[in-house]
Amino acid sequence: MVAVLKSVPVIRSMTERDLPQILTIENESYPFPWTEGIFTDCLRVDYECVLMEVDKAICAYSVFSVAAEECHILNLCVSKTFRGQGLSRSMLEYVFGRAKEMDANFIYLEVRPTNLIAINLYLSFGFEEIARRRQYYPAINGREDALMLARSID
Ligand SMILES: CC(C)(COP(=O)(O)OP(=O)(O)OC[C@H]1O[C@@H](n2cnc3c(N)ncnc32)[C@H](O)[C@@H]1OP(=O)(O)O)[C@@H](O)C(=O)NCCC(=O)NCCS
Repeated sequence: MVAVLKSVPVIRSMTERDLPQILTIENESYPFPWTEGIFTDCLRVDYECVLMEVDKAICAYSVFSVAAEECHILNLCVSKTFRGQGLSRSMLEYVFGRAKEMDANFIYLEVRPTNLIAINLYLSFGFEEIARRRQYYPAINGREDALMLARSID
């Protein structure tokens, strides 16, 4: 079921207390979801872990790292309930702003070639394919390549 947003979502840092809700969204969203341990590690090493919420409901989240003038988006996900309402675009804008604040010049990410919705999103946001990583992801029938996309931060 789709829930229409009644107010503007707030963006805030993720904490361990958010992980039960995050893991529910993660498990519904990916064929090979991140585990609790992966999220905990990202929080522990101080990666940027942020979420959007409305009335205590988490609608979207992202995990990214910024180092050596480069930002790497490791996870970007919108809850099925809140898709198709521009939240991924808002989250990407937040990530770009934060990466710029942290002196990054480029943003990188990997995406499955079969994830056409995400590819549409990133291409419309100005990302370009710069490489293909062979057999990068686990897949139902073995492994799947990753497209590596990049965009400069103006
Ligand atoms: C990919 C994802 C983040 C998009 O989130 P969303 O909030 O529904 O997307 P938005 O409403 O912000 O739409 C942004 C753009 O995405 C693309 N898009 C979104 N839904 C789409 C659909 N059903 N079909 C095709 N393209 C679509 C379009 O380019 C859209 O731009 P437009 O509205 O101008 O056409 C969401 O589907 C998701 O979380 N998927 C599972 C996790 C995932 O695959 N993450 C990316 C990993 S690399």
